[in-house]
Amino acid sequence: MFDRREFIAAATAVGATAVASAATPRQKARIDRSRVWRIGSPPSIANLQLVTRDTPTPAAGEVLVRVVASSINARDRGIVAGFFPIGTNKASIPLSEGAGEIIAVGPDVTRVKVGDRVTSCHFPNWVTGRWSPDVYERDIGNTVDGWLGEKVILPASGIVVLPPQISFDAAATLASSGVTAWHALFEIARVRPGQTVLTLGTGGVSTIGLQLAKAAGARVVVTSSRDDKLARMRELGADLGVNYRSTAAWGERVRELTGGVDIVLENVGRPTLDESMNACAPSATIVMIGTGPLPKELPKMPGFYQKNLLLKAISNGSRQMFEDLLAGMVTARINPVIDRTFTFEQAIEAFREMEAGDHIGKVLIRHP
Ligand SMILES: NC(=O)c1ccc[n+]([C@@H]2O[C@H](COP(=O)([O-])OP(=O)(O)OC[C@H]3O[C@@H](n4cnc5c(N)ncnc54)[C@H](OP(=O)(O)O)[C@@H]3O)[C@@H](O)[C@H]2O)c1
Repeated sequence: MFDRREFIAAATAVGATAVASAATPRQKARIDRSRVWRIGSPPSIANLQLVTRDTPTPAAGEVLVRVVASSINARDRGIVAGFFPIGTNKASIPLSEGAGEIIAVGPDVTRVKVGDRVTSCHFPNWVTGRWSPDVYERDIGNTVDGWLGEKVILPASGIVVLPPQISFDAAATLASSGVTAWHALFEIARVRPGQTVLTLGTGGVSTIGLQLAKAAGARVVVTSSRDDKLARMRELGADLGVNYRSTAAWGERVRELTGGVDIVLENVGRPTLDESMNACAPSATIVMIGTGPLPKELPKMPGFYQKNLLLKAISNGSRQMFEDLLAGMVTARINPVIDRTFTFEQAIEAFREMEAGDHIGKVLIRHP
């Protein structure tokens, strides 16, 4: 009986082209053709195109992954609609988060192998150390092709092997949201038990940020536009919630309730910076994560000098941070919050769900 995985493993070992050409035309069709969603022209959610292509063979420095699940970030929604505030989109296949199994590796790839359960860094060139703008040269789903396909090529340098305790679904939500929240809390703010963390909103970054901060022993405050979302965040462990729609001066309200927070995960960006500063205790750290636009009225940055605040922007994180995040999730038994799951064929509906903003946590896509 023909076994597709055995066949692909063998093809990788002895040379994919030679083995593939020995297959019957019907077998070849099953092996070599797979579907991807491509960004349309002009780019828009409605114009995403489901196409069937020849499955590419990994070149030097690349791996081929059979994708099990992927998920959507705020920026992916922007990219498919032709807008991203940093860098220029060059990818034709979107999505920076996903997980799957390696089914072939390029000729020189030795650090990962066929059969590994994996995910990939957002920035495959950032292995360890400090961030550099050069990492944008290879930004999955933005400057190189991303995860929204049945079988996708990824740079081997960014591949992260999954611990057995981490499911494909969980892993598929982490490369952007999870690594960014980890970087903010543990590398920048160095959160300690007993500190108070404010995390804005109920989306992907905020929700895993809540889970990680609680695991570190922090008190966590969440803001949202909806009371039902705040109630759900309380169920997930949040200690306090403030509705930023009904309480315009929500930063001051957070300060009243907590005495001032030590760390802010600023998941919106410049539009909410002033209120975030109002929420802070002296010497607090605000980590700028959200890429929200400059508001019409320039931020006044209240308390920046008076409270001696530390303001630090971050762009995702390194492969080392991703590996640390996975180890931390295993120890703390963190399971990311997946709000809704769509099939691969329903990718357009999944993007629309993100656009509607009704989700808490992540919107997942399960691949065939
Ligand atoms: N720097 C980085 O490396 C990095 C990495 C990942 C993401 N990001 C950025 O981080 C932001 C969040 O990304 P995401 O994927 O988590 O998005 P998401 O899942 O779409 O969530 C966005 C959330 O923002 C909240 N929100 C909107 N306006 C708000 C306001 N005025 N005050 C408080 N919350 C508000 C909403 O919360 P409610 O619905 O509860 O009101 C919504 O749930 C985006 O700007 C994204 O581009 C940056």
